[in-house]
Amino acid sequence: MAKRSKKAFYVTTPIYYVNDVPHIGHAYTTIIADALNRFKKLLGNEVFFLTGTDEHGQKVERAATEKGLKPIELADQVVGRFKDLWKALNISYDFFIRTTEPFHEKSVQKIFQKLKNKGDIYKGIYKGWYCVSDENFLAEDVPLEEGGYKICPDCGKRADVVSEECYFFKLSAYQKPLLDFYAQNPTFVRPPSRMNEVISFARQGLKDLSITRTSVEWGIPVPDDADHTIYVWFDALHNYLTGIGYDWNMELFEKFWPATVHLIGKDILRFHAIFWPAFLMAAELPLPQTVFGHGWWLKDQTKMSKSKGNVLDPHIILKTFGADPLRYFLLREVPIGLDGNFSHEGFVHRVNSDLANDLGNLVQRTLIMIQNFFSGKIEETDKEEKGDKEIRLEFERLKEKVLNFYENYALSRALEEIWTYIKSVNKYLAVNEPWKLSKDQSKRKRLGRILYQAEAALRAISYLLFPVIPGSSEKIWNFLGEEKPIEEELFSELKFDNLKLGQEIKKPDPLFPRIALKDFLKEEETQPSPARKEEKMEYINFDEFKRMDLRVGEVLEAEKVEGTEKLIKLEVDIGTEKRTMVAGVADVYSAEELVGKKLVVIVNLKPAIIRGIESQGMLLAAEVEGKATIPFFDKDVLTGAKVR
Ligand code: MSP
Repeated sequence: MAKRSKKAFYVTTPIYYVNDVPHIGHAYTTIIADALNRFKKLLGNEVFFLTGTDEHGQKVERAATEKGLKPIELADQVVGRFKDLWKALNISYDFFIRTTEPFHEKSVQKIFQKLKNKGDIYKGIYKGWYCVSDENFLAEDVPLEEGGYKICPDCGKRADVVSEECYFFKLSAYQKPLLDFYAQNPTFVRPPSRMNEVISFARQGLKDLSITRTSVEWGIPVPDDADHTIYVWFDALHNYLTGIGYDWNMELFEKFWPATVHLIGKDILRFHAIFWPAFLMAAELPLPQTVFGHGWWLKDQTKMSKSKGNVLDPHIILKTFGADPLRYFLLREVPIGLDGNFSHEGFVHRVNSDLANDLGNLVQRTLIMIQNFFSGKIEETDKEEKGDKEIRLEFERLKEKVLNFYENYALSRALEEIWTYIKSVNKYLAVNEPWKLSKDQSKRKRLGRILYQAEAALRAISYLLFPVIPGSSEKIWNFLGEEKPIEEELFSELKFDNLKLGQEIKKPDPLFPRIALKDFLKEEETQPSPARKEEKMEYINFDEFKRMDLRVGEVLEAEKVEGTEKLIKLEVDIGTEKRTMVAGVADVYSAEELVGKKLVVIVNLKPAIIRGIESQGMLLAAEVEGKATIPFFDKDVLTGAKVR
């Protein structure tokens, strides 16, 4: 393979599942990637920034069924939501990959075939437990709960039993090569605590990994064995290759591969730091330079996630504040490796204090004074005095520190330093009191010097902030009358006095509106929750409801339907007659335990043939994480009683 150019920088985000709309957690990874992407471009690197969506697998398949959609229909809808959000957040990715695109599917099949031909993939039988939420096979040592089921140790949800023929990847053969690789590349996983976590996991022994399913239809078919679909993680991880041209634009691929950094949340570290390098070793491809596992955004001390119902919809914040305050807050509030707790109070406080007060005020007062005292253009200044020089030198030191912090993913530290400098410039103005000098004609050049220093500092500050708050930085840059786009100045060429004398400023608009906490909370409360918003309630009238014949039915007999995992055939007494019904509840209830139970059935639903059996009605059940929970009565009720 041709050698990757030294200037190439390839950054990726995880590809997000399309089972639900994006939230702040997803936005976080993508914002970090965007900041790195913009920073590296300022350094003169050739950057490729990949993001996208992970569209196959059981989780998406189930979510689509619940919504009465085909998986691809759900994916199309949710992809639109992701793309809209990235636009609203000013994310400048280079390519958006969808795993349902034919070029990706074809390449994954080719790689699968290659590994199979090499003997790294072989056929066998998988018996074990599977967590649909994490799309993950549970380790054997996860204990059985009293009810005879297992709980996923990562997300706490109930796992499903899987027993099927499948293809395995020989992960065990890569244990030693992986451990050797980690030893030679101690910064492969960052931060270091996560590298240790990965090493100790790999040292415990790696078992071969099931990488196909026969019970999941929504996936890439295994070449020449279409009863099997490829495991969603095998499929998804390869997006990092196919999204950069592997197999369809090899020139592009060779320019950027291996990836400089895969940015991920710590929840998916093992997939990226163990499975992924093993797959790549098997495919004889170079390994990525770094996998960076960032922390989680929590709400009320719990990880923000759809299933916990505690996600924050970024659109509400965007509507009230715009992109930059959110970008700034997420990157400033906590170092990337740690968890952060999102609170509305914290958000409003940080944004009002740092952006509206410190930065916003500095921009406003500097530019207004230049406007008022010099009609928008400083033509002459006197020489730098000690305090003026200090502002320039402090900037030169700041520039080096920021470079170093940005390079090392310490974005919050970089912002902290930039704010120390903003405060110094504000203090410089307060000490020199240019508003007083303006009254004395003999101090004009001195006044010019002070406002020039403040203006030059602002130019430099807006440049350093560009990766994090690009929209506002560009605005400041333009207020200063700069003509060339901000991205065209190379970081190495950035100097305090790059600001030309005699440059005419533009009238500034307010940059960051100050929002009162109570107004923000009001806005948040008036929004339907993301889950409810999706539902779009379609009302029926009472007459329509009355047409449904809902009754108490008593189960007289029950037996599992042969050859299925979930179906039970029931004989149900509905008060007037006996009916046969087929219910998909065998993964939760045994046939025996249902006999004698009274439950709610709808008896005038048009009969349907299910697995050759005519189902003459349907029992009602709540759906909890894809599983049925049947409501039973807490008092004895008459069989056949109406339910209304
Ligand atoms: N589809 C897989 C990834 C495949 S990559 C080859 C997946 N998708 S996901 O939709 O669940 O997104 C996971 C990623 O979203 C996390 O790794 C993290 O980057 C981000 N976040 C989701 N919730 C988060 C928080 N509450 N906090 C911070 N980031 C989190 O896993």
